[in-house]
Amino acid sequence: MTQRDAHWNAVYETKDPSKVSWYQPRPDTSLRAIALTGAENQPLIDVGGGASDLAKVLLERGWKDLTVLDISEAAHAVAAERLGRQSTQVTRIVANITDWTPPRRYAVWHDRAVFHFLIDAADRAAYVAALNAGVESGGYAILATFAPDGPDKCSGLPVRRYSCEQLAVEMGPGFELRHHWQEMHKTPGGAEQSFTWAVFQRL
Ligand SMILES: C[S@@+](CC[C@H](N)C(=O)[O-])C[C@H]1O[C@@H](n2cnc3c(N)ncnc32)[C@H](O)[C@@H]1O
Repeated sequence: MTQRDAHWNAVYETKDPSKVSWYQPRPDTSLRAIALTGAENQPLIDVGGGASDLAKVLLERGWKDLTVLDISEAAHAVAAERLGRQSTQVTRIVANITDWTPPRRYAVWHDRAVFHFLIDAADRAAYVAALNAGVESGGYAILATFAPDGPDKCSGLPVRRYSCEQLAVEMGPGFELRHHWQEMHKTPGGAEQSFTWAVFQRL
């Protein structure tokens, strides 16, 4: 196990998932971003999905081809337990996104608060390579990271903060920025965290 796996497994094994700073009772902003893509019941991957209810809500809306990737087995266990019997309807992949080669393509790639942990350029390049391999032509990549006025750490780890223009540079010429906005996320502890949301389309 690497330090990164160990960090995230310890988070999900020791913390109440509804108390972590990124917790939200409903993934409303993600749903808004997905709605903007126009994709409906199409293959979707939630990268670093953690214990989020995004897959659960999409299942309730009739989506059928859902994949959640996360570095933490413990995160998958928490999310699967919440889904109960429905959990078999979600494909779960335990992997570090910077070491992963997508075996197929998705219409929607969703990442809330994962890319910003990649502070090494080599890790970001590996992420973007996976993104290019994993998103179909005309498909969408939704990224939410801390904004330039957001925190410089998350879960005790350093992060990089992005404007939508900076994210567009990271995504490279294969992706066109279609929508973007800033969101003030309220943590369960009452703090405010500024996020950049960006919806890219693969050319
Ligand atoms: C801040 S949490 C966000 C969780 C979820 N996206 C949400 O919005 O509730 C970051 C998540 O990314 C996962 N993660 C961190 N680094 C990762 C990596 N290199 N590859 C895959 N997952 C990673 C963590 O285990 C954790 O579940």
